[in-house]
This record gives sequence, C-alpha cells and structure tokens, in this order.
Amino acid sequence: MEQDLDRILIPRDKIQERVREMARGIAATYGDECDGLMIVPILAGSIIFLADLIRCLPFKMGIGLMTMSRYRGATTTGGDTQLIHDLNVDIKNRHVLIVDDVLDSGGTLRAVRDQLRHREPASIRICVLLRKTARAPKDLLADFVGFDIEDVFVVGYGLDYNGHYRNWPDIGVLRPELYS
Ligand code: IMP
Ligand code: MG
Repeated sequence: MEQDLDRILIPRDKIQERVREMARGIAATYGDECDGLMIVPILAGSIIFLADLIRCLPFKMGIGLMTMSRYRGATTTGGDTQLIHDLNVDIKNRHVLIVDDVLDSGGTLRAVRDQLRHREPASIRICVLLRKTARAPKDLLADFVGFDIEDVFVVGYGLDYNGHYRNWPDIGVLRPELYS
C-alpha cells in the first residue's frame, strides 16, 4: 500500500490534532443546540473521519445514514450524483451536520444538502475534512473545514481509489501512474 503513494500530504498526528480542534469548533458553534444534533455522514469516504470526530464531541447526538455516489472507480468527475441509500431517520426540526471527507467540485454535497432540505430540518451545516481550494465552488460553503489542499488525488484516512487505501492512517497523494 505504502509503495503506491507518491508522498504523505497530511500525517496521522496532524490529522488527529486538527480533528480535535474541529470538534471544539463544532461544539462552540452549536452551543446550547448541541444536544440532539443529527450527524449525516456521506458514506463511505467519511467513515474514519466520522469515527474520530464524534468521539471528540461531548454531547448527545445521533447519526443518520445515507449513501450518495459520484466517483465510480475513476478519479475524475463524471455523471450525476446518485442516491444509493436514502436517509434512515427523521430530521424534521433537528439541527443537521453533514460530514464528508472532501469538498471537491461540490456536486455530492450539494445533492445531499438538497435532499435533506426537503425534510425540514432546523438547520443544515457542512463539515469536511479536506477542501480542494482550486475547485470548491463559491456557492457551496463548508461551515467546518479541516485542511485546504491543492488539487491532487488523495487516499487514506477513509478516502479511496477503486475501493482501496481507506485503511491507510495518513492522507497521501496516490502515484499518478496508478490511476487511469
Ligand atoms: P465532489 O462531488 O466533486 O465534491 O466530490 C466529492 C466526493 O468525491 C468525495 O466525497 C469523495 O468521495 C470523492 N473524492 C473527491 N476527491 C477525491 C480524492 O482526492 N480522493 C478520493 N476521493 C475523492
Ligand atoms: Mg465521498
């Protein structure tokens, strides 16, 4: 696995430190409205981030699961975002925090946000571990961002290429010759 990486972009200790900071930021932003927060992770890329983040949140919260898919194996954007599994909980009048691994073109997050809006939540905020600054659209702002990164394809810490590398603990740049 390691030999497939060009370089490590964000080492594991830096990720952990930043995730703890993000959790403090989230708790401070919601304040008294923390309790009962509904977290909606975008599967599967956010799973490792989600697991670390929620263990740093010192209040009662729920998780609502839904799966959207955009990248079908290849590393380039293509086709519409697809709803694979719909949300399994009622979010009416609840504060919702969408958690995703990376804000790239924003198509996935926009589609998820629009799906959730129909269900009349009290509010919707967006939390991403990574944001590709060069590509992130100006009309889709994330409320919480872990790291701004350059426009490179990254894997590890939940992020995959063709289903692999999610279990790599650091975030690394995949060797360009490995993807089509
Ligand atoms: P967007 O819809 O273009 O913003 O793409 C966001 C989704 O594409 C993320 O939730 C990821 O699952 C995937 N994605 C985007 N960039 C990368 C990357 O560098 N590595 C792995 N997955 C990525
Ligand atoms: Mg994703």
